[in-house]
Amino acid sequence: MATILAVVLLLPAAVVRAAHPAAVRGSGGAVSSAAPAATETGLEILRAGGNAADAAVATTLALAVVHPQAGNLGGGGFAIIRFGEEVGTLDFRETAPAKASHNMYLDKDGEPRPKASLVGPLAAGVPGSPAGLFELHRKHGRLPWNDVVAPAIGLARDGFVVTSRLERSLTASTELLRQFPETAAVWLPGGRPPAAGTVVRLPELAATLEAYATRGAPAITEGPIAAAVELASRRYGGVLLAADLAAYRPVWREPVRFSAYGWQVASMPLPSSGGIILGQTFGMLERLDWSQLRRFGADRNHLLAEVWRRAYADRYLLGDPRTSLASAVQLLSGPWLDLRAKEIRLGKAAKSERVGRWSADRVEEHRETTHVSVMDGDGNAVALTTTLNRSFGCGVLVAGAGFLLNNEMDDFSAAPGRPNSFGLVQGEANAVAPGKRMLSSMSPTVAWSGRQVLVLGSPGGSRIPTATAQVLLNLIVDGDALQAAVDRPRIHHQWMPDTLFVEPDALSPETARALERRGHELRVINEMGEVSAVRGIVAGNMEAAQDPRGPGAAGVVRPEVD
Ligand code: DON
Repeated sequence: MATILAVVLLLPAAVVRAAHPAAVRGSGGAVSSAAPAATETGLEILRAGGNAADAAVATTLALAVVHPQAGNLGGGGFAIIRFGEEVGTLDFRETAPAKASHNMYLDKDGEPRPKASLVGPLAAGVPGSPAGLFELHRKHGRLPWNDVVAPAIGLARDGFVVTSRLERSLTASTELLRQFPETAAVWLPGGRPPAAGTVVRLPELAATLEAYATRGAPAITEGPIAAAVELASRRYGGVLLAADLAAYRPVWREPVRFSAYGWQVASMPLPSSGGIILGQTFGMLERLDWSQLRRFGADRNHLLAEVWRRAYADRYLLGDPRTSLASAVQLLSGPWLDLRAKEIRLGKAAKSERVGRWSADRVEEHRETTHVSVMDGDGNAVALTTTLNRSFGCGVLVAGAGFLLNNEMDDFSAAPGRPNSFGLVQGEANAVAPGKRMLSSMSPTVAWSGRQVLVLGSPGGSRIPTATAQVLLNLIVDGDALQAAVDRPRIHHQWMPDTLFVEPDALSPETARALERRGHELRVINEMGEVSAVRGIVAGNMEAAQDPRGPGAAGVVRPEVD
């Protein structure tokens, strides 16, 4: 006993975190998501002969029922697919309504009105999920659309058991939800959240899903459901119109691609900053010989913070691809990454306010969510992140249609240079304008090397790219088992505020002190995203892991028998 205790005390804190169950292993397909009922839905679809796209869409629609704090029809998201050699991304991010305007979240003195971009329908972007999920299935699905939507209809119509997470989330958001009687009628029956263990039925949402199953996206983006969205918006002072929904289009985009440590990585391009931040992270770390440094030591943590300080400073320039003041090509160029890596001192933290941004003059050549990772039996992969932005979005439930509207407008820089609800300081490139997509941090990612394929992503707002990067580094550089890679405590830096955020057990006391001596201001936080990850190994074998930070679930179609 004494010997074991001594060993434990000598190990860096990051290694001694309580053990979690191993990833599930097997074949025939794998799913990882934030809710057991949703993961089971994805597996059901794979067992019925569906492919990764069918399963990803079905899992996401199940989340729209059983995980309403994030899963949605009234929000948006991004997906990355790898089908054989084909890699592509689908952008179904919300857009600003046609009646949105640059100063819509400022008061008469030009000061931000933070609630306006967070609470009530003025905070809602045009939902992208109905058209986006339909499009993902249209292009890559194998089963009939009806079959893919059917499990979500069943959950909404026949009912599902409220999890303790859902009860906790509803309790935490009671103030928001009770402001809107239509929302309170569904989610606060009798004035309180339904208790964990009770069965909830959502007949209006079931009817919306039935219409969606029969007629596809137009069932929601046109006709009576779109009219109900406009009514809900007008009732509480929003500018979202039925015409905005009808005009919305998802966009297939080329992924951000880079190679690192012998792996090919593909992630989200603008309007998400995620892929660019990931690419910059790996590009700078390779230049700084990060992998050669001692694991969990101060040097590695310091370099991560310095790299992210710079990547998030460049994020200030980013926005919708049509207005962004810098591109992936510019921010991932060799000369820029060389210059950035050279700025970094091993012994001293930079001051964020002094870290410049990318500019053409500085280089010689001429920026509550839920994630689903799926792989089918053929090795095809889909990583799909959807969001309402904050928990339960703007709080408004569309009467008659049963779904909540997002508050994604807060991802715009309502007042350029001032922090949004994630503390992100963003620039004019991401200012509000009609039809524009707000900058995101969501980073659904696939990476492959030889026959190994990784599929991952996370919620967590501004902490999504850094969570994704750390899990990838754990796997690619340090050879962690999949579950260990997801479990490991994490750190985060986002340029502004000039703070190194750390999970309680991420740093040993000595490492924390060493980082403080170098000038880092540390702040302990508990809110890091729940990563969902799947890994294809060889010959149809795969494993799936879900983050112990939440009560999600990972599963495989045919589990390995010991
Ligand atoms: O797109 C983004 O970056 C944010 N709207 C994501 C929100 C989020 O992850 C909240 N979940 N924890």
